[in-house]
Amino acid sequence: MSTTDSVDFVITGGTVVSHDGRHRHDVAVAGGRVVAVGDRLAAPGVPVVDAAGLLVLPGLVDVHVHFREPGMTEKEDFASGTRAAAAGGVTTVVDMPNTVPPVATAAGFQEKLDLVSGKAYVDFGLYGMLGRDNAAEMTEMARLGAMGFKLFMGQTTGDNRCPDDASIYQGLEAAAAAGLVVGAHAENDHLLRLFIDRLKAAGRTDPRAHLASRPEFVEVEAVTRFVTLASAAGAKAHIHHLSTGAGLQRVRDLRAQGHRVSVEVLVAHLHFDESAYDTHGNLIKLNPPIRPAADVAALWEGVAGGDVDVIATDHAPHTAAEQAEPDVWRAHGGFVGVETMLPLLLTAAAEGRMSVEDIVRVASYAPARRWSMPGKGALTPGSDADLVLVDPHAEGVITGAELKSAHGVTPYEGRKVIGAVVGTYVRGHRVFDRGRIIGGPVGRQVRPRA
Ligand code: NCD
Ligand code: ZN
Repeated sequence: MSTTDSVDFVITGGTVVSHDGRHRHDVAVAGGRVVAVGDRLAAPGVPVVDAAGLLVLPGLVDVHVHFREPGMTEKEDFASGTRAAAAGGVTTVVDMPNTVPPVATAAGFQEKLDLVSGKAYVDFGLYGMLGRDNAAEMTEMARLGAMGFKLFMGQTTGDNRCPDDASIYQGLEAAAAAGLVVGAHAENDHLLRLFIDRLKAAGRTDPRAHLASRPEFVEVEAVTRFVTLASAAGAKAHIHHLSTGAGLQRVRDLRAQGHRVSVEVLVAHLHFDESAYDTHGNLIKLNPPIRPAADVAALWEGVAGGDVDVIATDHAPHTAAEQAEPDVWRAHGGFVGVETMLPLLLTAAAEGRMSVEDIVRVASYAPARRWSMPGKGALTPGSDADLVLVDPHAEGVITGAELKSAHGVTPYEGRKVIGAVVGTYVRGHRVFDRGRIIGGPVGRQVRPRA
């Protein structure tokens, strides 16, 4: 067939940005896929989307979101969370299992899948939990299409008591047999609990006490133990939200010894340092914590130097009332972010901290490759037509009240950004158009494909 036969629409005149370059090209879409990328693809009778002056990016793939279904839908649900994703140019999310109940069994995985299917405005994968003694359940969750598994080594939102090393090792073996990635929340639970108890005994309740409770070696130790066990078990290891320069240096050392591990940093850890405890109070509480400026600089160096593979959001919503909690020990960790990632990274690009190609690499291409989503993360013939149209020069201000999340409470309130999402397509369906969600919940489950 010639490329224009039965083409649904052509995006013309934009600059297509991939992980390794950019070209002025048209993009032809048919049946939800990219069918051609090249010059003068417009043809009589084929609808055209004029993207002159815009960048055309593969939709972002955010491998770290918490959309809170089931059990915590007062914070967010799959519809509001995926609408926020669509507005942020994120066309694939992978949702975390620390729900109520946690997704730690095959039955629970199936229940969640049934619950959220039909509500999603973007494509989604689901993680299962690597929990206490649930290796057999992990094997079954893999059959149901789990994208991978989350290991909480340190206490965080939800009631997921951290597995001991024997459970962790057996879970890593199950993941290795299934060929799936295990992502760790790498903080040593025993240590952070010790420090929390000491700080409580000393009467601390202020926001900075959270940082004091989780010194960098709490992360370094967990990184080392996790990578050591994952290598022994032959599992694909990923570290979620690495937060310290020392942690990143330990990763470099482990890699030099032959260990293979992918590393993620959060938009939040790149955009806030410890001064944020004074300006934002407990809203900025995050696990692992917002760190001193030297760590922030080390993480940016890791992005620039290629040691950081993935940037994600850890979109972790709580209600507006919860976010106003003054006692640090009662406050929840996490805040929204899926909708503000791309404008913030585009701003970093406008300021010369990274290129738009880097954004595509760390927030689309690399996560899609790492979690075996061959249709995602690139705009080449055969790829899913997950596209974001971006105006790289549009200036705006982040305003919580305009966010699509259930609670528009954001520490980025009032922040100026350069670069805006103009439109978002999920497999050829336009789901977001200049500020508005359009169309219905077209999102589908994504399963890893070897
Ligand atoms: C996350 C949440 O609220 O679910 N919170 C956080 O502070 N990061 C959990 C997590 O990713 O650890
Ligand atoms: Zn975490």
